[in-house]
Amino acid sequence: MRLIIAVDGPAAAGKGTLAKSLAASLRLPHLDTGLLYRAVARQMILAGLDPSVDDGERTAQALQPADLLRDDLRVPDIDRGASSVATQPPVRAALLKRQREFATESGAVIDGRDIGTVVFPDADLKFFVTASAGVRALRRYQQLHGASARDEAALSALTAEIEARDRKDAERPVSPLRQADDAVLVETDSMDAGAVLAHALAIVRERFPL
Ligand code: CDP
Ligand code: CDP
Repeated sequence: MRLIIAVDGPAAAGKGTLAKSLAASLRLPHLDTGLLYRAVARQMILAGLDPSVDDGERTAQALQPADLLRDDLRVPDIDRGASSVATQPPVRAALLKRQREFATESGAVIDGRDIGTVVFPDADLKFFVTASAGVRALRRYQQLHGASARDEAALSALTAEIEARDRKDAERPVSPLRQADDAVLVETDSMDAGAVLAHALAIVRERFPL
């Protein structure tokens, strides 16, 4: 079945993990749109541009598929740089086209901030995945440092960074982070990734019986 499924939510909520596993279960392609914004920020930094000051439009237009495959896209400078370039309307316009083209023929599971509101407002199904900032910071910390790692000072710094980025994403005028009116809210504070996938798959099967 050609389904377009949007997965949005704040930083480190588990959007990518859900979107990837949902796509594998449903045999659909998956696109993590955060990588597009991250790759633009990375290319700008490499070119000596400051993502919080300089215009990223040309960089966004020149983005190549290989730029998304880098494993150095999830570092703090690029977290901040991505949310800066994401406030620029011309950058968003250039990336919008790529995101829409990705899902045209086969359907897809796509995760980001504005997939259900702007990129695919007519998506067949929309999830808004969230959890408290402290839980999300712990998830990101353990993703980076291992499942048993825990350092309270580092965690409170990461919680503050995540809250600042969420605020910036939610308060920007263009395509802010927002739950679409018709999105299914999934609060994941006390759910592991497997439970979130099972819950989402049950909703897909209820709405789209094979
Ligand atoms: O894409 P997003 O930034 O929303 O988050 P992610 O990279 O998919 O997930 C962050 C970390 O949380 C990963 O290590 C996941 O395994 C973990 N996690 C999750 O995805 N879902 C849960 N319900 C619990 C933990
Ligand atoms: O993985 P995490 O949730 O920390 O971030 P991400 O999904 O990789 O997104 C990085 C940044 O890109 C976000 O903080 C947003 O500013 C921006 N972004 C966006 O504006 N719109 C999207 N559809 C995806 C990401």
